[in-house]
Amino acid sequence: SKKILYSCDTGVDDALALAYLAAQEECEVVGVTCSYGMSYVGDVFRNTKEVLRLCGKPEIPIVMGSETPLSGEHIDFSGGSKFHGMSGIGGVLPPSTPEDWGDAKPEDATDFIIEMIETYGKELYWVTSGPMTDIARVLRKDPSVAEKVGAVYIMGGALATPGNVGNVMEVVMEANVRLDVKACYEVLTSKLPVVLVGLDVTRKTLFTYEDHERWHTIGTESALFLYESLKHYLGAYKQFHPYLNGCGLHDPLAAVAAIHPEILTTIPMHLTCFTEGPLRGRTTEDVWRCNDPEYSMKAAMFVDVKAFQNEFFGKVEAMLRNH
Ligand code: BDR
Ligand code: CA
Repeated sequence: SKKILYSCDTGVDDALALAYLAAQEECEVVGVTCSYGMSYVGDVFRNTKEVLRLCGKPEIPIVMGSETPLSGEHIDFSGGSKFHGMSGIGGVLPPSTPEDWGDAKPEDATDFIIEMIETYGKELYWVTSGPMTDIARVLRKDPSVAEKVGAVYIMGGALATPGNVGNVMEVVMEANVRLDVKACYEVLTSKLPVVLVGLDVTRKTLFTYEDHERWHTIGTESALFLYESLKHYLGAYKQFHPYLNGCGLHDPLAAVAAIHPEILTTIPMHLTCFTEGPLRGRTTEDVWRCNDPEYSMKAAMFVDVKAFQNEFFGKVEAMLRNH
């Protein structure tokens, strides 16, 4: 049976993906790794721990990943906090402190992920929903893992739809790509069996105000925690993406698709990412390889929204009612 490894930057919609993974019983979640992203890595680690505890799965191993992009530059989290609030989860938790991190250290995730791939091989489905820094670090340390893992479902990028950072006229890139463009380039031009779950599909799976009200009505500790953390994210979507009736369930779609691949329509594609010039950060087809008939990657271009909703809301709400 499938084993799931999840790498995230929790994050409001990452938290919802965690809730889904905590709720489903078909596959075992063998670990979660956390990196910087929409907020500081220490906060991400603590947020992840808190969400898994609230959702009744405190035993899932959580490992700390990158603190910065490959370049080592420090990220300014003000962009991320516009959407995800202070400390990454809608302001419902204060900044983390060293007691929250215990023995966890940045970059522990590289060896942990390699070990998981060595242990589970093709059974391992790796879902990622933050910057691609940890994936790139794993490939740099042991490129052979690319041909050992089952699949890597990456929430990131945009192919036929605009990105989601910058103002409306310059929306080239998607937020996870922007955090580490170099890492994205290294990952997309590797031999990993990537399924790119980009904004082309994740913009179509929404969490609406009606869903929000329903979670309030569920009223348990876990439901109310997620309800509170979603307020800020919904508000940011209303302000910055007013064409959507709700907020994007980007990260949950990658998690659901790893377990139920049939909800996505994918096309085989040789992928790459512009690293310079005005299109820097745009994911696209690699024209230098476009006639090569051997594909290792796929890009999701269409999603069965109803099937996603049934699976996601069905599983998560059943779990929330019990926690
Ligand atoms: C991605 O950026 C973050 O805001 C979300 O958590 C998601 O991973 C969407 O572009
Ligand atoms: Ca995320």
